[in-house]
Amino acid sequence: MKEKKTDSAFDFFDENKIVNDEHKIILVTGGAGFIGSNFIRYLIRKYPNFKVINFDKLTYAGNLNNLTTIEDNANYVFFKGDVADQKDVKTAFEQFNPDYVVHFAAESHVDKSIINPDIFLQTNVLGTQILLNYSREHKVQKFVQVSTDEVYGSIDSNLNVTEEALIKPNNPYSASKASADLLLRVAYQTYGQSVNVIRACNNFGYYQFPEKLVPVIIHNAFNNLDIPIYGDGMNIREWMHVEDHCRAIDVVMQNGKSGEIYNVGTGNRWKNIDLAEYILDKMNINKKLISYVLDRQGHDVRYSVDSSKIQQELGWKPQIEFEDGLEQVITWYSNHMDWIEEITSGKYMNYYDDIYKPRMMETQ
Ligand code: NAD
Ligand code: TYD
Repeated sequence: MKEKKTDSAFDFFDENKIVNDEHKIILVTGGAGFIGSNFIRYLIRKYPNFKVINFDKLTYAGNLNNLTTIEDNANYVFFKGDVADQKDVKTAFEQFNPDYVVHFAAESHVDKSIINPDIFLQTNVLGTQILLNYSREHKVQKFVQVSTDEVYGSIDSNLNVTEEALIKPNNPYSASKASADLLLRVAYQTYGQSVNVIRACNNFGYYQFPEKLVPVIIHNAFNNLDIPIYGDGMNIREWMHVEDHCRAIDVVMQNGKSGEIYNVGTGNRWKNIDLAEYILDKMNINKKLISYVLDRQGHDVRYSVDSSKIQQELGWKPQIEFEDGLEQVITWYSNHMDWIEEITSGKYMNYYDDIYKPRMMETQ
């Protein structure tokens, strides 16, 4: 049995402990990834009567070690499957008949999408359509698409985009997410399915794969490695703690008006170079580690969303102060060097075989 370590920065699930005592079945796709695993922990703790199915293919970004603190909970089930595989999705829907689908599963890294766009289309676009098909057939009460502010493309300075803005993606990742958003629109308009799209800003938090900016900075700083900053470092991103995002998804899943899109952001915007320096200051690490590297192709300069719709219509607002959240996350990474080492060594990939294969053989 693995040691159970703290895995929430804040006691977020204690504020209205059981606000919904109905028995619901939630199919969470991509629940072994960064945001999905945080969301599953959130659901399991906040709603003792919800049954949560984690449907995940376990790509390089899927790590069941992210869920060790809740994996023994009777309301949690793991199902290994590919959203782009009809058979897998059909089996899961027939087995679990979910009330809600919350769709995180995606190829999520922009740099990877520039090198190999095809898998982004397969998972992010085709996978979404297949899930929508079975959601319609099984009369799912609500399908929540976890999308991104990146679908709006680069935003001029002093502008914050509302949900009415045109989508103008600039890289294969954001184009695939924008395409999926359009399929959600079709599901609502043509088939009358109950759906929402959430377009969130950049997240940071526990269990984020060390390919994204914040964990790259923290990991490299701890290991005295260069911290690569693309181009001139002046690109701006809006940052939100993953637990604030989880709360937003929950609110939208239960109260979002069908067919609506909700931007989810904080207004907390940073130039990449300023963020890197700020984190290094917090860690007491020399800024000389920062190393400017060749820019990303088609690098969006600025993301910036207007989140007043979800605040006014659904009463959500971010609760975690950036500085507090960041300090907690730095501490978490420093206490979870084993987690990150398993990733950098590739050992975490064995988790499924080690844990599940013997169990499956026992039941055969
Ligand atoms: P992640 O890369 O950490 O996790 C993705 C998960 O999806 C992994 O567990 C992976 O195994 C799984 N997966 C990939 N392909 C699959 C397939 N074909 N079938 C089933 N499972 C598959 O991603 P993340 O950062 O947690 O992002 C989750 C979602 O949130 C994505 O849809 C992303 O577009 C969106 N999003 C992310 C951010 C962010 O800052 N990370 C911001 C806004 C929106
Ligand atoms: P990333 O975390 O990949 O998220 P996204 O591209 O989806 O916003 O990157 C955040 C910003 O940081 C983006 O402007 C690219 C930049 N970046 C670096 O400068 N260095 C890095 O090593 C990484 C991963 C990103």
